[in-house]
This record gives sequence, C-alpha cells and structure tokens, in this order.
Amino acid sequence: MLDQINQLRDTITKTVISNAAELEVFRLDFLSKKGFVNVLFEAFREISPEIKKEVGKPLNLLKREAELFFEEARERIETNQESAFDAFDSSLPVYLNGVGSLHPIKAVENRLVAIFNSLGFDISEGPEIEDDWHNFGALNFDDDHPARDMQDTFFISTDVLRTHTSSVQIREMRKKQPPLRLIMPGRVYRNEAVSSRSNCFFHQLEGLYIDKGVTFADLKQTLYYFVQQFFGDGTEVRFRSSYFPFTEPSAEMDIWVGTATPEDVRLTKGTGWLEVLGCGMVHPNVLDNCDIDSTIYTGFAFGMGLDRMTMLKYGISDIRDLFLNDTRLLSQFRGL
Ligand code: DAH
Repeated sequence: MLDQINQLRDTITKTVISNAAELEVFRLDFLSKKGFVNVLFEAFREISPEIKKEVGKPLNLLKREAELFFEEARERIETNQESAFDAFDSSLPVYLNGVGSLHPIKAVENRLVAIFNSLGFDISEGPEIEDDWHNFGALNFDDDHPARDMQDTFFISTDVLRTHTSSVQIREMRKKQPPLRLIMPGRVYRNEAVSSRSNCFFHQLEGLYIDKGVTFADLKQTLYYFVQQFFGDGTEVRFRSSYFPFTEPSAEMDIWVGTATPEDVRLTKGTGWLEVLGCGMVHPNVLDNCDIDSTIYTGFAFGMGLDRMTMLKYGISDIRDLFLNDTRLLSQFRGL
C-alpha cells in the first residue's frame, strides 16, 4: 500500500493540467468517490494497526497533495479564462475617436474675414459688456431711442450686453486716427423672444473704412465684391435706402435668391430678395464723437449677421439648431 501511495504522489508531481477538461479528469481519478484517494482510505480501514501506523501519514499527505494540486490548477485555469476576455483582440473592428470641427458660424466668419483681409481690412474685437455710450450714445442714438429700452436690451446695472458690434467701431476710432480699414466680428445680445428666426444672442461682422475721400461708390463696390466671393459669381444685389442713427445716408443690401422653390418663397417672403446687411456712410456726429475731423475724413460702415449668413449658405431653417451642440449636425461641417 505504501508503494501505491508513493507512486500516486509521484504521479501528481508529474501531472500537467492546462485546461478544464484535464482538471476534470484529475478530479475523477484522484478526488471523486471512486478515485484513488477514497479507494485507499477505504482499504486503510481494513488493514492491521501496525500497517496503519506506517501508511497513515503518507496517505494523509497524498490526500492533501491531491487536493492542493487540484485547487491550484483550478484557480490557474479560471484566471486564465478571465484574462482571455480582457486580452487585446486585434481582429475586432476599430472605432475611431470623434474628431472635432469648427462650428459652422466660425467657419463662415473665417471665410468672411479672409475675403475682407484680401481687401486690406484688419481684424479687431471689443468687449461684449459695453457701456451705454459706446453701444448707443457715441453712435448718435437719441436718448429716447427704442433700442435703449429694457424690452430690447439686456442691462447689467448701468452697462449693457452689446446689442451690435458697431460699438467696436467707436473703440477703434477713438484709439487710432485714419486711415482705418477694419472688420470686427463678435457675439451680440438682444432681449428678444427666441424663435426659429431670432435668438437672444447672435453673431455679427462689422466693417469700417475711414479715409480721405471715401464715397458711397466705394461702399457699394466693396460689398459687391464680397457678395460675389461669398455667394458666388453673378449673385445679384440691390440697395434699399434705410435708417440707422450712426450712418447717413443709410442702406440695406439684399441679394437675389429667387422664388424657384417653396423654401425660397418662404425665405424671401415671396419677393425673391433677401436682406443680408445694413450699411451707410459714417455719420459726421459719430466721427466727431471719436475725435476724427469730419471735415477731412469720410467713411463707410456695414454690419451683417453671421448666423443668418450661415443659415443661408447651408440651408439651415431654424437658428436654434446652430446652438444645440448636436454633433450629428455639427459633424456635417467638418473640413470647412
Ligand atoms: N448695427 C446694425 C444692427 O445691428 C447693423 C449696421 C447697420 C451696422 C449699418 C453698420 C451700419 O455698421 O453701417 O442692426
């Protein structure tokens, strides 16, 4: 019996278990009810006390060794299986991380800036929180002008969230003497009900050209060039006279969209024409407010809505869609 025990202990040391099936074979051979260990324990009961003394200890050792060997192998196989799940599988499909893109309004702004840069306009920016004087007073707004009303403008104690980028004209003219040729993009705010066509904040691009002998013809030609560049060669424009306190004369410029599609009819309210910007010759009072001699210098200014331009260019019908931060919408503008 001792020989048998020693042989089995030897067998255990030589056994290799590398998977669940081999583990089960080992369990059946050694540790099941009819396995070697149990069979030997049963035989052990029948033998004489002297021999019991001799084999008792080795038999117990065999049992312990078989159990330990089994447990170790079981743990090893289980953890191997788990790590097989974690293992890097190079055959799996690849999910690329999303790459960001410029917001379409920023892309349009960049395009417009590039067009005006090519005409020698430099870029300037001003603060979004303005005082009343820069936003209204210096721009020749009367004290009782409706734009100064709480209903139209957001007030922060005595300051305002600028309602237009025209305030940046004032800041620049007070800093520098002519000639000045500037474009001024930025965000503006109005106390308006939010709808598909208007938002309480939006973006503008302001233009300003002050020098000796600047005329309305220069204004028209500059804007005409911009329209051909931005909307495409052959785009028709028209100027309608208008009123802004800071320009005289003032005009609004429309582009021809046509009435070919129901969408065009809706957009142009049936006229085929769409207003894209306001403009005019800088009012002498404005130049005087900025210490620029209005007997020597003249200039033109214009202001356009970037959100509007973006919607036009890309056929977006609801201004709110631009601010949903929905990457399904924004990713369509990748590469602009
Ligand atoms: N500030 C005007 C607005 O927000 C737009 C505008 C009109 C700007 C005429 C100008 C201009 O510079 O000359 O409605």
